[in-house]
Amino acid sequence: MCGIVGIVSKEDFSSEELLMMLKKLEYRGYDSAGIAMSGSKLYMEKSVGKISELEKKLDGKITGKAGIAHTRWATTGSVTQLNAHPHADCKNNIAVVHNGIVENYLKLKKMLVTKGHKFKSDTDTEVIAHLLEDHSPEDVMKTIEGRNAFLAMYNGRIVAVKNGSPLAIGIAKDRYYIASDALPFLEKTRDVIFLDDGDIAEIDEKGVKFCGEQHEPQRIDWDVEEAKKGTYAHFLIKEIMDQPAAIENAATQNDEKIREISGMINNSFGSFFIACGTASHAALSASYFFSGIAKKHINFSVGSEFPLQKHFLTDRSLIIAISQSGETADTLEAIKAAKGENAKVVSIVNVPGSTLMRQSEYSLLTNAGPEIAVCSTKAFTSQLSVSLLLAYAATGRLDEGKKLLKETSKKVKEMLTDAYLMKIKSLAGKIADKEHIYIIGKGFNYPIALEAALKIKEVAYMHAEGFASGELKHGVLALIEKGVPCIAIVADDETKQDVINGAAEIKLRGGYIIGISPDNNDIFDFWIQVPDAGNASPIVNVIPSQLLAYYLALERGCDPDYCRNLAKSCTVK
Ligand code: F6R
Repeated sequence: MCGIVGIVSKEDFSSEELLMMLKKLEYRGYDSAGIAMSGSKLYMEKSVGKISELEKKLDGKITGKAGIAHTRWATTGSVTQLNAHPHADCKNNIAVVHNGIVENYLKLKKMLVTKGHKFKSDTDTEVIAHLLEDHSPEDVMKTIEGRNAFLAMYNGRIVAVKNGSPLAIGIAKDRYYIASDALPFLEKTRDVIFLDDGDIAEIDEKGVKFCGEQHEPQRIDWDVEEAKKGTYAHFLIKEIMDQPAAIENAATQNDEKIREISGMINNSFGSFFIACGTASHAALSASYFFSGIAKKHINFSVGSEFPLQKHFLTDRSLIIAISQSGETADTLEAIKAAKGENAKVVSIVNVPGSTLMRQSEYSLLTNAGPEIAVCSTKAFTSQLSVSLLLAYAATGRLDEGKKLLKETSKKVKEMLTDAYLMKIKSLAGKIADKEHIYIIGKGFNYPIALEAALKIKEVAYMHAEGFASGELKHGVLALIEKGVPCIAIVADDETKQDVINGAAEIKLRGGYIIGISPDNNDIFDFWIQVPDAGNASPIVNVIPSQLLAYYLALERGCDPDYCRNLAKSCTVK
């Protein structure tokens, strides 16, 4: 949800450097982009569309000793050049880039207009630039409501303010980098300060000065090569193919920590798995894993709904929050609500140093490496892997869980051959012109039906719905017409016959049945074979749907790495 970057340097640097950083945040929004450089005067340029459009406009290099840039996911004010960031004050002295929503901006704008301030855009952000004309950053932070982070550039320095949305500062020898996350500058420096809510840092060529307590940098060891496409056409296919390694890395945890956390889960009462979007499907799976493997009931709730269920919490409750970015506002609000009821928080996170990780009592890293495609794939299978490991550990069978994940990683690697990919591509060619697609699953694979549908919706812009197979007769069958593609996820477990029966009910009403299963069945019109992975079947079974979504996106002319209207890190509620 909007990416912001900044550089302060002792020497002149070029605008290209800022845009290179900004491109690493493009997954956060791509409606419009803009840049401001501080030289002898403030230089500002903006453009609608992706960052490449702005690049074309910046006819040659602009240089300066300080600069900020922004890639936008529109919230307040439509997608126009005027609404693109940066926004400036009346005298064009202060440039602001912002991530978040100033919830009281209409009231503030009215007050500022009465005082004679002239506004050029319809955004909430512009109030920040005008407020800074007369007030300190501290006062502005206290005045604006909502979850926000902004960079304000004036007098050759940058002021970074965090109160809700994320911000990180990279400390290099002769440069200071600021960004919504550390990825844009990790190639330049591994020394990172993650700002906390309420932090204000002033960055000039002499250094970083916090209002209040000074923060020390920490070292981040992510492999930056993993954030590159390599020989793949898109990040999405690269990240799908990364999954054998991601599953194995997720299983490589500190045994003592896993045992301690699973013990905490066992001793808790009235606990919840919470997450949003794809991660919520991992959270629902985790609830099934705990019920099926550890025989322990843990509730499930999506982050945005959870605060309405907080009344059931006690100081014995544990919240296990799952998130790739660790910055999802709905998830952070949920843990805030839980903490208010004295519940403890454990998180399963992919991005080290993220807000969720820092706000949890205990945290497990999924170790999937940077995930760049907006649509989440390897983060999901690594979330499933860590949850499965916890469920095994909760019954004292951690080694069995680790062995299962190791074998699963190997099976997935063997499954992902060129021929396998081509088979799924051929299926995408057959069904790309269909309007609807339905997916059924049961038990451990019910959340996978939901996740498969989400993948197809977000990258191929096709209407897809996932259902529990048993629900068909309660209404869904009314949707089935001749030729409608229906995916049946059939695991080799106690649910097998029920899902086959569901597929049969669809087939006899004209549906085209695509079976994802270890074994073929007469009922399938198209069979995608998957290895039998026992309790890890959800990890294996989701992958063909990810591939199908990818190839459907290509067939339908969609960019698989950028989902229309979506941003990877949802830092607004
Ligand atoms: C879908 C997707 C989103 C995220 C959701 C939560 O492919 O990526 O649904 O899963 O926004 O994000 P995190 O996991 O960062 O909390």
